[in-house]
Amino acid sequence: MPTALITGASKGFGRAIAEALADRGWTLIVDARTEAELAQAARGHASITAAAGDVTDPLHRRQLAALVDQLGGRRLDLLINNASTLGTSPLPQLADYPLDDLRQVYETNVIAPLALIQSVIEPLTAAAADGGGTIVNISSDAAVEAYPGWGGYGSAKAGLDQLTAVLAQEEPRLRCYAFDPGDMRTQMHQEAFPGEDISDRPEPQTVVPALLRLLDERPPSGRYRAAEFAIPQEQEAAR
Ligand SMILES: NC(=O)c1ccc[n+]([C@@H]2O[C@H](COP(=O)([O-])OP(=O)(O)OC[C@H]3O[C@@H](n4cnc5c(N)ncnc54)[C@H](OP(=O)(O)O)[C@@H]3O)[C@@H](O)[C@H]2O)c1
Repeated sequence: MPTALITGASKGFGRAIAEALADRGWTLIVDARTEAELAQAARGHASITAAAGDVTDPLHRRQLAALVDQLGGRRLDLLINNASTLGTSPLPQLADYPLDDLRQVYETNVIAPLALIQSVIEPLTAAAADGGGTIVNISSDAAVEAYPGWGGYGSAKAGLDQLTAVLAQEEPRLRCYAFDPGDMRTQMHQEAFPGEDISDRPEPQTVVPALLRLLDERPPSGRYRAAEFAIPQEQEAAR
């Protein structure tokens, strides 16, 4: 069975992806910082191994890489860098952005994903030999649109997009995707719009079929939006 490592899988989009891949029989290694929530998310899924920790912590990343070696036989089909931070909420203007907070946003959203890629590049490349070896870095429309207040998070996601694009050139045996899921009704989205009613945003589970379609179709490396892989409702109902 294929093996995937998914960061930030205790809630929101990461959890929805993990549940869908577990239902497809994948072996999964997942993380998040809050141990109890992560354990709750993994409960009932025998193929999910939960390792609580912070992606910015090198020791934790080493633990994840060791689990990949152990459970995947030194072979990793899929890495999804999903864990992310919005940064300061309410979102500050760049002129007032606390620089230590900005460093933390870059550490979590840019440095940690690349560090994790570096930690598992060999097992990813091993999987590439027989059609695996995919990296999905979860992006945002804030990476390409200039929304006031989103300069910290958005510029970090733009950096992640560019890392993905260059990596795709340097590692042609791998598929390297930046995937923009669009708005989703999650804790992060609520933090971005404190006190606002976000009940009109789609649940993260509704975006998962688009990501699965990306993984199944394996288009060339690049940046893709969920909307480009959306499955018409009537087709989804028939699956
Ligand atoms: N929601 C949206 O509208 C939206 C739109 C565009 C893009 N995105 C992107 O989609 C992805 C998922 O976001 P979401 O909305 O599902 O967020 P979410 O519901 O807040 O979930 C974030 C997950 O990441 C974990 N996490 C956060 N920081 C971490 C760290 N340093 N180390 C390990 N795990 C960490 C969280 O658990 P702990 O807090 O316990 O660590 C949680 O499991 C993110 O990359 C986000 O930027 C979201």
